[in-house]
Amino acid sequence: MSEQDTLEEAKTRGMFSSRRVFILAAIGSAVGLGNIWRFPYVAYENGGGAFIIPYLVALLTAGIPFLFLDYALGHRNRGSAPLSFARLSRGTEGLGWWQVGICFMIAVYYAAVIAWAVRYTFFSFGKAWGSDPEGFFFGDFLQAGEPGVQTDLVPGVLWPLVIVWLAVIVIMVAGVQNGIGATSVVFIPVLIVAFAALVVQALLLDGAGEGLEALFTPDWGALAEPSVWGAAFGQIFFSLSIGFGIMITYASYVHRHTDMTGSGSVVAFSNSGFELLAGIGVFAALGFMAQSSGAPVSEVASDGIGLAFIAFPAIISEAPAGALIGVLFFGSLVLAGITSLVSVIEVVISAVRDKFEMSRVAAALVVTVPCTVISLAFFSTTSGIYVLDIVDHFINQFGILLVAVVSMLVLAWGVRALPTLAGHLNHNGSVHVGTWWRVLVSVVTPVALGYVLIDGFLADLRTPYEGYPTWMLLTFGWAAAAAVIVFGFLAAQVSWRPGTALDPPNPLEQAKEGA
Ligand code: ALA
Repeated sequence: MSEQDTLEEAKTRGMFSSRRVFILAAIGSAVGLGNIWRFPYVAYENGGGAFIIPYLVALLTAGIPFLFLDYALGHRNRGSAPLSFARLSRGTEGLGWWQVGICFMIAVYYAAVIAWAVRYTFFSFGKAWGSDPEGFFFGDFLQAGEPGVQTDLVPGVLWPLVIVWLAVIVIMVAGVQNGIGATSVVFIPVLIVAFAALVVQALLLDGAGEGLEALFTPDWGALAEPSVWGAAFGQIFFSLSIGFGIMITYASYVHRHTDMTGSGSVVAFSNSGFELLAGIGVFAALGFMAQSSGAPVSEVASDGIGLAFIAFPAIISEAPAGALIGVLFFGSLVLAGITSLVSVIEVVISAVRDKFEMSRVAAALVVTVPCTVISLAFFSTTSGIYVLDIVDHFINQFGILLVAVVSMLVLAWGVRALPTLAGHLNHNGSVHVGTWWRVLVSVVTPVALGYVLIDGFLADLRTPYEGYPTWMLLTFGWAAAAAVIVFGFLAAQVSWRPGTALDPPNPLEQAKEGA
């Protein structure tokens, strides 16, 4: 590909200006609420220390190989998720649209958690939750009613959510390099410094050692629980931003002669490093709380999605320099959340731009304005937290994990694309993907994921998730997960805009493909 073509591509689709910017953007996408808000409660609910082992197994056997697969797809085929699939094989386009649908669903609730963090950054100064962080979170702050659908808006959630969406709209309109790239270049270093300072603070608290012991003492018994493995795979896919189109899309904005496997390794280990750091910080702080309340670590925090918003405030109230800990923790959540949210939305914007003739600004607005409206309508109400909990659970299990298994099987066995994709990765890659990669992607990971999916499916059929009313689970869980599949199928029937080439533009690895 000539320099002229590269300039043309940067002008028409957008492109990261360098490998460094791409890596920062990809780390920005991967490191998000998943690492700081989700990881501690998922680890906590799945055996605490025992969770580390399935987590590492899932990272090495599924996470990194799948990240390479995503990169190969987007980098070789130079398109959004649907276009990248279509360029590999016409019949697979729907998989890309399924991923676009998943991203739409994630974006609308993800923004709400960032909005909570925005409020809590400010609450930290005055410790607004007083002596009852749990009552404050559910009652005073979220004004949560009974599970159901209520239309009463909660102003204290609404306005920060509006601010989050306005910030996101500005970034998305600015484009790939000037918006996403520039934001990541600034936010990620600040995030790393802020979070490292937080972890050091947490480790200096009395009782930190007790918390770390709870995190790192393996409970071998929990390894026999399929649900623990399911949670580990779910966490890795969500946290690494794989399986739902993000890494395909970002890779399509990277200069053709870039080392994608080396870059991917940096991204994967940075993400897990950050996640473990978050685990250390959170559990050290829980250890402090356990010591000051005289209860074991396993009992000090309420579980579930409120963990970060209940345990941390309690710690902030008790700890020396608590306000600083609060600002660092919730501020980190905001920074990490924004750089991930923009990546989730970019999947949708880039697919819309590829499919229809639309400028960057028009596509950014066509996507973000409806996202904002839906996000406000569902998640700034008194029932927002329940809908969020259900969508998060189902869209992960039966969205991300399911599309990941299906796409691996289709790519490996249906269209037999692995040799082509491996050839592409190896052309410039510093980590050689060989037989090990093909075996993991075509056999080991689909079998492991297939097993955890079936087990999760049966568990959700047997026991209503978290005891929510059946109609809520049907509507926001099962129907939502099914709707994105139907959407994927229907969107694939719409024609591409005139002039769209459905062959990969100048594959550079032709000589090596099939090797
Ligand atoms: N990878 C992003 C996160 O961890 C979505 O939050």
